[in-house]
Amino acid sequence: MKQVAIITGITGQDGSYLAEDLLNDDVHVFGGIRRSASSPYNLGRISHLLEHPNLKLIYFDMMDACSIEKFVKSVYDSVHDVLQLSNYIQVYHLAAQSHVGDSFRIPTVTHQVNALGVIVLLESLRTHFKNNFRFYQASTSELFGNIKTKSKNPKTMTECTPFNPESPYAIAKMAAYLTVQNYRKAYDIHAVNGILFNHESPRRGMDFVTRKITNYVAQYALNRVPGNRPLQLGNLKSKRDWGDAREYVKAMRKMLIEAQGDTVGDYIVATGEAYSVRTFIQLAFQKIGVMIEWFGSGVNEKGRNATNGKDILVQVNKELFRPVDILYLVGNAEKIKKNLNWQPTVPLNHLISDMVDNDIELLKKGL
Ligand code: NAP
Ligand code: GDD
Repeated sequence: MKQVAIITGITGQDGSYLAEDLLNDDVHVFGGIRRSASSPYNLGRISHLLEHPNLKLIYFDMMDACSIEKFVKSVYDSVHDVLQLSNYIQVYHLAAQSHVGDSFRIPTVTHQVNALGVIVLLESLRTHFKNNFRFYQASTSELFGNIKTKSKNPKTMTECTPFNPESPYAIAKMAAYLTVQNYRKAYDIHAVNGILFNHESPRRGMDFVTRKITNYVAQYALNRVPGNRPLQLGNLKSKRDWGDAREYVKAMRKMLIEAQGDTVGDYIVATGEAYSVRTFIQLAFQKIGVMIEWFGSGVNEKGRNATNGKDILVQVNKELFRPVDILYLVGNAEKIKKNLNWQPTVPLNHLISDMVDNDIELLKKGL
């Protein structure tokens, strides 16, 4: 056993891609999985990895401090004799209540999981591994909130841009961000925050806006929209910097493995380009040869198929607006490019095309 990694949140979008990459590179992976009420475990994204000899899944829940401690102890018991050779284990802490909109509905769960859970995890790691571990925290562009500027063309956000968290999700992630910095300074641990801007993929959760759109577009392409209902969406105006999750998990590894000395620190991971939800919708429909024509305004706005002039495809639903929404997020990834030689390569229209194709394939297979 040469390299060892823990991934919390291995069943999620990022965790599943990261696990694939690490296993391909001969790293032994311990993945934390949790039980959910509706089904035992959410293993769909990692079903193809379950038989891998270097993967071990361990049951825990970020809501339960005892289970976090037992999870870390069981990894320690399995690997402590090889630690002398590898010096440290890699810990990718990705588990979170990751839905910003939902965080307004379940603020205390969000804080427990995304903020307090990180402290419990770090303390358990210190108890067992001393400082023989490196820690990656899945931080987020949501920390920036709505930046205060009078400019019509706000600048991209850098590692020096002040934070202004504006949701229970962002507030909890802010606490975790500061905790990680504190552990780095206080205990000399290689603990870093990846400030990742939105990243998507065919494995994105269905309740995030991009996948909701590509899944609807796929249904429309196959003439399978239930009840021919329009796609219900909230705020179409907000702009996001959307990258490809498969590239972003590679940046996480660079922050843990390649960073050393002065380059150990917190990094923005982003494409540097922002598009609105409305543009994303247009590009996704373009992929299947449909142009969208908008009419109405505000909560009465709708999008229609301009080619046949009749199908209403998108409808704004005020129930889907957030109490506070972040209108503009775009990141400057110069620091990680310069220090760790990471940069994004996938243009948004390729990513969208990939997601729509994947959703069409899944529907054809009846999944
Ligand atoms: P995701 O698909 O929603 O995955 C979240 C993971 O966390 C899942 O494995 C989930 O398990 C697990 N989890 C949730 N609550 C848990 C709990 N109480 N105990 C244990 N595990 C729990 O999220 P993602 O898109 O891969 O994002 C990964 C991380 O990066 C998250 O921390 C997110 O906040 C952060 N982030 C994401 C983005 C982005 O654009 N994707 C950008 C910046 C930061 P189940 O499968 O059982 O639900
Ligand atoms: N989810 C969702 N559903 N969002 C919608 C909808 C809808 O029906 N309609 C409009 N939106 C808008 C949201 O209001 C938001 O402005 C934008 O689409 C993006 O929403 P999400 O896809 O839910 O992503 P997010 O930006 O809020 O959060 C994601 O990115 C963060 C990094 O910036 C998540 O992955 C977070 O975990 C991550 O930290």
